[in-house]
Amino acid sequence: MAIIYHEKSGEFHLTNGHISYVMNILANKQIGNLYFGRAITDQDDFGHLLEGGLKALAAYVFEDDYQLSLQYTKQEYPAYGATDFRYPAVEIKQENGSRITHFQYQGHQVFQGKKKLPGLPATYVENDTEAETLEITLYDEVIDAELILSYTIFSHLPVITRHVLFRNRGTSTWNITRALSACMDLPDPEFEMLHLAGAWSRERHVKIRKLEQGVQGIYSLRGASSAEHNPFLALKRPGTDEFSGEVYGFSLVYSGNFLAQVEVDTHDATRVLLGIHPDQFEWPLAPGEVFQTPEAVLVHSNQGLNGMSQTFHQLFRTRLARGQWRDRERPILINNWEATSFDFDEAKILQLAGRARELGVELFVLDDGWFGARNHDRAGLGDWVDNTQKLPGGIRGLAAKIEAMGMKFGLWFEPEMVNKDSDLYRMHPDWILHTPERAASPSRNQFVLDFSRKEVVDYIYTSMSKVLREAAISYVKWDMNRYITECYSLGLSAGEQGKVFHQYILGVYDLYERLTSEFPHILFESCSSGGARFDPGILYYAPQTWTSDDTDAMERLKIQYGTSMLYPLSSMGAHVSEVPNQQVGRVTPLETRANVAYFGAFGYELDLNLLTAEEAEVVAEQIKLAKRHRRLIHQGLFYRLKSPFQGQATAWMVVDKAMNEALVGYYQVLNGVNEGWKRLKLMGLQPDTLYQVNGNPGRLHYGDELMYAGLVIKKNELCANGADFSSTLFHLQRVEA
Ligand code: DGJ
Repeated sequence: MAIIYHEKSGEFHLTNGHISYVMNILANKQIGNLYFGRAITDQDDFGHLLEGGLKALAAYVFEDDYQLSLQYTKQEYPAYGATDFRYPAVEIKQENGSRITHFQYQGHQVFQGKKKLPGLPATYVENDTEAETLEITLYDEVIDAELILSYTIFSHLPVITRHVLFRNRGTSTWNITRALSACMDLPDPEFEMLHLAGAWSRERHVKIRKLEQGVQGIYSLRGASSAEHNPFLALKRPGTDEFSGEVYGFSLVYSGNFLAQVEVDTHDATRVLLGIHPDQFEWPLAPGEVFQTPEAVLVHSNQGLNGMSQTFHQLFRTRLARGQWRDRERPILINNWEATSFDFDEAKILQLAGRARELGVELFVLDDGWFGARNHDRAGLGDWVDNTQKLPGGIRGLAAKIEAMGMKFGLWFEPEMVNKDSDLYRMHPDWILHTPERAASPSRNQFVLDFSRKEVVDYIYTSMSKVLREAAISYVKWDMNRYITECYSLGLSAGEQGKVFHQYILGVYDLYERLTSEFPHILFESCSSGGARFDPGILYYAPQTWTSDDTDAMERLKIQYGTSMLYPLSSMGAHVSEVPNQQVGRVTPLETRANVAYFGAFGYELDLNLLTAEEAEVVAEQIKLAKRHRRLIHQGLFYRLKSPFQGQATAWMVVDKAMNEALVGYYQVLNGVNEGWKRLKLMGLQPDTLYQVNGNPGRLHYGDELMYAGLVIKKNELCANGADFSSTLFHLQRVEA
């Protein structure tokens, strides 16, 4: 791994044997991009890659010199206003009304390792040899503004992470109106854009479209990364599939409003912009102050989408997620929400927990409804105090009883919200985001607390930490059930209202940071009406997220498949729930529901007391299986084999790093009639290793046969004999030939 600087040519080459990232100092001292892609041999000068020459209608940087127009120059951090007419990465509104800036190279430094981003989530190293960082300092002399472009290259992964720091070195305040985290100018438009789109209960479905000239992109202006779009996009070559071909992945480590935009210009260059959405964003920066953008993660793969995903998985699982739970086996949990909703008392909870314990569950999670006057969704949010009518011994008493049963206890919170019918709102009606003299729009009967204000975050911290300190709590589910409307803070001045959305998210991160550092033993699971805030920012604090409120196994195939584009299986909460399914009314076999949920952070969300004796036996076996394989599932390499977005069969598998063991999930949506046998080609096995399938001594195959000829799938091997919604698992274990 190296970051090389060629002084004569003014070029930087970041390379690690997998990728190369080449930049240069342009003639006008801005930073240009010469190449990002598969590793190339270093040279003193790659200047021939810089596009130049005369183009009609172009404006030029220097008089009497047609070599440099920013319009066709690939740049690292393009600014608004000079010779580039495309969307820029940075724009600053100045005291005199101008928005023109010119940031010029001043110097750079290279160091081992990677710095933390104050107040923001980011990837990290455990040891300085894992990565090298380049910081390039740029300066605009007219407004005394400094930009530090920061690039980290990881030694073993085809990854570059980037972020930008703004510093006001002058004497007047200026307003940052656009501060994206990364710009990537690619030299051609021969790509398809892959992104994850959806809505409540159908989050992160895979969408693919061909790039066209003009602007295309995805975004959130909802105050959360959202169920509608994820802060991620990939550009893949048209022929790229799961296992071959080139693809670039772009992900933003952020949980609020974002923009991920691709612009193809009329000279066929492709510009990717990624960062905080510039709409509704305006950050006044006073003399001496700094502004830090979130981090962008850029991945290059020449081994298809799966190659990209495995890189993201490894980075996010081991160098973004943190804490005691990062590598630990996750407890098999039961959550009471789908079983009871708000309608429970201590006896009912203990009955559920008791049955769960008998069947092998390790953690009982008490969901919404345990606090204040929370007997429905119209009251109580904000009052994090026991509801002693439901739970006479409070949370402390209940947690002690659950622990005495031999299980751990977990608890639901929705820290950022308030109902008008709550003591908190009656005390502090000005603490919700809303515009003075106008109504605030409700959503699920609740309002958003103004987390851009420190006193609000402090208050919630005090009330939550009291509960966490006083009771034996091992897990927290942190929910967030509405988006932000009327984004206005009474805590900020008129000129500062453009800060609210971002400062809100910084408040959320601050609370997460305080709670996770004070209670390192607690496993945090994030949630937002299911998966409306499933993003890398949150993953830094909460190693797992409730993937979706949709627990139907068939719907989950699409949701989990799409989510796996960049998020590791260990981060995806996945539960077996009752049938008919509460979201779609579908009846799927109990086996299939578990066969899907195993490929996530596994649990149950139904009334186990209602199971027949036979079903209970099945569940007990499922729990044993989940415990046996959870390390393999969470830490192995994941391969998507058949897409739920094409055809009636879905398949995926995980293989341990030593290639000794694998678990394959095969799922059939609708049954077909009079069909032939299927062969499923596996991936990631050792070709000359003999594998035994499902412990059957008569079923031995070499890895090469399983990968190149395939594993034969017969209908009668699927549960329910291959009827609609059937499935099966194949466990492969290395044996001596
Ligand atoms: C939405 C979550 O996604 C559900 O799992 C549940 O926790 C409810 N909120 C509770 O209000």
